[in-house]
Amino acid sequence: MYWLFNSSIGRKFIMSISGIFLILFLLFHMSMNLTLLFSEEAYDMICELLGANWYAIVGTLVLVAGMVVHFAYATLLTLQNLRARGSDRYLSSNRTETEWAAKNMFVLGLIIVLGLIIHLWNFWYRMQFAELIHSPDAVIEGSGLVKELFSNPCYVTVYLVWLGVLWFHLTHGVWSAFQTIGLNGKTWFPRLKFISKALATIIMIGFAAVPVYFLIIKLMS
Ligand code: HEM
Repeated sequence: MYWLFNSSIGRKFIMSISGIFLILFLLFHMSMNLTLLFSEEAYDMICELLGANWYAIVGTLVLVAGMVVHFAYATLLTLQNLRARGSDRYLSSNRTETEWAAKNMFVLGLIIVLGLIIHLWNFWYRMQFAELIHSPDAVIEGSGLVKELFSNPCYVTVYLVWLGVLWFHLTHGVWSAFQTIGLNGKTWFPRLKFISKALATIIMIGFAAVPVYFLIIKLMS
């Protein structure tokens, strides 16, 4: 167990497992959002299920733990890399052929966290949290809130930029996570590159569909 926390490969392993867990959450969250394009009632029913119930609260706490671990280890690994490379870091990053996303994972992650704070403030705080503290203003029907917020073109633009950043983070993140857990070698290298780009694109389009759809509806009405 000691190697897991104290070696560089152990830390990378923790990053990969927590990253894969967060990708699974994204796939779940994206599928849940997409139901809104087909049925408002179904979406509101799911939001109600994920309200102030013990299983939804446990789910939220597990998710927070996954995010904290992922972010804490990202900070540790970034500091460790900076220290190891010292003042040569700019020189060495120019020499290698690592992709832009790979070199900027921490900054991309920071932008995702900033966007997430706005997102949680606008949705989670007014829904699950408000319900937990028995606020009379708690929003029960998520569909109304989604439609209201995404009728604003500026808000939708911010979301689309945020999702673009998430795309770059995932293209490198998915590839790197699977490499770390052992899928590497000549055959898997091009396959993983393709799989990570495809998965990142599916997630980006799946999330973007909802704001874009409601903005179009608003502009046409
Ligand atoms: C762009 C389309 C999106 C829509 C319409 C949307 C909608 C929502 C809604 C309505 C909630 C509150 C659910 C509730 O409390 O019952 C929520 C929570 C949340 N969203 Fe999103 N979301 C979107 C994108 C994202 C993305 C891209 C991420 C991650 C990078 C994300 C991460 C979260 C998290 C972590 C929560 C809190 C989950 C919990 O309470 O367990 N969302 N979202």
